[in-house]
Amino acid sequence: MPIPSSGVQTLGSILCVVGARPNFMKMAPIMAALGDLRPALALSLVHTGQHYDAAMNHQYFEALGIPQPDINLEVGSASHAIQTAEVMRRFEPVLDTRQPSAVLVVGDVNSTLACALVAAKKGVPVIHVEAGLRSFDRAMPEEINRILTDQISDLLFITESSGRANLLREGIAESRIHFVGNVMIDTLRRNLERAVPLSQILKDAGQNLQDSNAGYAVLTLHRPSNVDDPAILRALLETVLKISRRLPIIFPMHPRTRAMVEKFGMEEMLDVPELLLLPPMGYLEMLGLMKDARVMLTDSGGIQEETTALGVPCITLRNNTERPITVDEGTNTIAGQDPIKILAAFDEIMRSGGKAGRVPEFWDGQASIRIATAIHEWLGNGLRS
Ligand code: UD1
Repeated sequence: MPIPSSGVQTLGSILCVVGARPNFMKMAPIMAALGDLRPALALSLVHTGQHYDAAMNHQYFEALGIPQPDINLEVGSASHAIQTAEVMRRFEPVLDTRQPSAVLVVGDVNSTLACALVAAKKGVPVIHVEAGLRSFDRAMPEEINRILTDQISDLLFITESSGRANLLREGIAESRIHFVGNVMIDTLRRNLERAVPLSQILKDAGQNLQDSNAGYAVLTLHRPSNVDDPAILRALLETVLKISRRLPIIFPMHPRTRAMVEKFGMEEMLDVPELLLLPPMGYLEMLGLMKDARVMLTDSGGIQEETTALGVPCITLRNNTERPITVDEGTNTIAGQDPIKILAAFDEIMRSGGKAGRVPEFWDGQASIRIATAIHEWLGNGLRS
């Protein structure tokens, strides 16, 4: 860990928090950029343990060179209330002991809100990276996490201009909002050359892809709104199977989705040669799959952004997005859960190659440096934004 040894003058200390898979690729470049600052900052990393499987967790730390967490709260899986409460209960003594100048949280998972809430109530300033995104769908647990985390944050870093409008509407002072770009894309750009090719992934998995000459699609699915209801999941999978007859599909399955497929007895319907089921992929494997895909089908937020940065067509299997720039400027099409819309979006991509799209402003690989610079200035100004 880049913690300066005692006796070295530091500008302050930041406690960084990660919990779940989409946090890791955001935190990696931020910690690297903060670690490069002079005068130095004392950094420590807390992992809440929300995600714990090797495939969801350790692989990412290794691939992205994230320092080993100083503390793992080991909360594991539970209901939203229990998981959030357990993170809070276990994070409070860490904060009491470490007494950081600020707590830095990323994204919108339960760990993000839980740690922000503990810090804010103790009067420790909160920094939120990826603030201001709104789907306007409060049935989505992440939307609640986003709104509440932003309300109690002192320094808010946004990835796209919709974030500023959303935050101002919710009464956040303009001086606290900083448009810095997208740290996920910092990680993507840094690792593109290391992406694992499909041939290697297939070799490692001991699998083959049916008729891969025409290319392939990649599917990810894990939102509770898509996978927890058997009728919705069945309809989505039937649509996916139709698509797979025209373009083979690679489907790395999230543990939540696998559990639901087993619970609802849907394994058999997925047992077709055109659909390649894989375990959750590591970061470099997923990047390799995405960059060469003809189309991504997904309900992930991050993948909507990554495909826009890569120029790969994306069909989003949700009725909304909190990342509207991926539709307005990028390669994303919102198709929801409606088979007709999904198939029409797929047809259009096969016909035209999909939207050309452009890379949004500040998705240039430098977002983490902008963040580190702003934090440095803020600490230097005695935390006044
Ligand atoms: C969480 C985030 C979601 C993010 C997703 C990425 C919240 C509210 N949701 O959803 O925003 O897009 O991570 O993956 O924070 N499980 C395992 N192994 C693990 C972790 C989870 O098997 O390492 C299984 C467990 O059955 C668990 C289920 O997945 O109950 C759900 O895990 P949880 O962390 O509650 O939410 P995700 O669906 O992963």
